[in-house]
Amino acid sequence: MTKLPNEYPDFGLTPQQRQFAVRGRYYEMPGMDGDHGEIWCYSDRFSYRPGETVLLQVTSTAPRVALEIVRDGADETRVFEKSGIDARWQDTPAECGVEGSGWETTFEFKVGADWPSGGYRLKLTAEGKDGRPICCQHIVIVLPKAGRKPGRILQVAATSTWLAYNTWGGANHYDLYSPIVSTQRPWGRGFVVLPSQAPRVPLEMVPPPKTVPRYPQLEWAYATGHSKKYPAAGWASYDRHFFRFAERAGYAVDLASQHELHFSPEILLDYDCVVFVGHDEYWTWEMRDAVDAFVDLGGHVARFAGNFGTQIRLEDEGRRQVCYNKDTRDKAAGDPVYGSGDVSRATTSWEAPEIGRPGCKTFGLNSSNGCYAGWGGLAPRGVRGFPIYRPDHWAFADTGLYYGDLLGAESHIFGYELDGLDYEIRNGLPYPTTMSGAPEGLEILAVGMGTFVEEGRHLRPEDTWVGDSDGRSTAESVFGEASDANLEKVKRGSGMIVNFKRGQGEVFHAGTCEWVAGLLRHDAMVECVTRNVLNRYLGRK
Ligand SMILES: [Fe+2]
Repeated sequence: MTKLPNEYPDFGLTPQQRQFAVRGRYYEMPGMDGDHGEIWCYSDRFSYRPGETVLLQVTSTAPRVALEIVRDGADETRVFEKSGIDARWQDTPAECGVEGSGWETTFEFKVGADWPSGGYRLKLTAEGKDGRPICCQHIVIVLPKAGRKPGRILQVAATSTWLAYNTWGGANHYDLYSPIVSTQRPWGRGFVVLPSQAPRVPLEMVPPPKTVPRYPQLEWAYATGHSKKYPAAGWASYDRHFFRFAERAGYAVDLASQHELHFSPEILLDYDCVVFVGHDEYWTWEMRDAVDAFVDLGGHVARFAGNFGTQIRLEDEGRRQVCYNKDTRDKAAGDPVYGSGDVSRATTSWEAPEIGRPGCKTFGLNSSNGCYAGWGGLAPRGVRGFPIYRPDHWAFADTGLYYGDLLGAESHIFGYELDGLDYEIRNGLPYPTTMSGAPEGLEILAVGMGTFVEEGRHLRPEDTWVGDSDGRSTAESVFGEASDANLEKVKRGSGMIVNFKRGQGEVFHAGTCEWVAGLLRHDAMVECVTRNVLNRYLGRK
């Protein structure tokens, strides 16, 4: 393995700018580029069937814009091009992140009947007010045609997580906190396209002793004018890397959004193998029902994703996503279901007792037994790959892995958020504890350490970004109160690879956001395990 550097990368920010890059609130909004000018664009939906019409809402300082549409698969294929589209500046309400931008439709086009399912990037360009080019990027998902598709994979993009983190217009489920976020707005910069040098969250360096943590991904975002949340969510950071790998490796793969899981779950039944990747944190009750029913009926689920964390609700035909989890007040003051509704639909951790549906019942692992590794002050010198305990499992065929090896350390697949279980080691092998809630027969193939809390004997709380806030909110959701004693119960977690059968079907889950980094970085062993899982679940030899 190449020796990792001992210095943080530097993007030319002053210490004050670095501080702001991490702790400041900043986001994309209309008018932000001043005399340069801007284009912004969104579509009426996440996804469309062939033949359906896409409505594009555009605001532009230029009177005419050009549109290019590229399918972002194994190759980048241009499918549509048009210049001279009339556009105008449209006013945006202050509450656009919550209520939507409300722009009138500027342009519409039909998805071609022959456009293969996948992620299609829309690039709008024009001349800025100062004569330099202006540009905006958007993405729509083209769905497969209906009908049984033996031998094909369905990848479900983590669109609810994209939306939860989207910074555009100043509302998300995080530091721009709003319990309601709208799909009717553009994506933050870096959600659709990123340059290859954009840092991922996990560190590609080893911090020297007693270092104050730095967050290169946030410094780079601020230094280059990208969304503060590009490293956390989006097609560009996560979903596209699996899709492109799968096509290049010769698999036939279709793409859907999480809205299909919620509103048209029957889409799953056309497939033998459904895949989830990347940072996949937010799901509705109905989305889980869809996956559980699919597996019960004999479907295979391969999840190469982390942070199966929080229940959301959808409103207004999916245009509004609801989540009160990051409310700083107590639970009852936030989500209205605690006052008057069905508390099993509360927008909190799946492991909250009132929901009664721990995440592991669907995917074998819980986010509240995760969570972070490989960055900041969160196991920054951690394992990087998955420590392997059961190398004889079918998923590791042809890898040459041994007991105690690390899978994917070179490409740093372990982090930045993980899913795990409460477990114990007997005779050198991990087992879920009887209290873990793990599905019957679940086998733990790999386990590494994760943590919810950024702390250490040389670390001052004011030098941390995550600190203990996520640990305390998880403690409150799962154990009712954010006390020290409850924090102690949740703060040490793990990231696992597990496999179990359910009904007629089966689930394989590598509980890490960064599996896609192994595919992006062409880690032969990670690619081999991915192929082993896909081949088995597609019934290939
Ligand atoms: Fe997350």
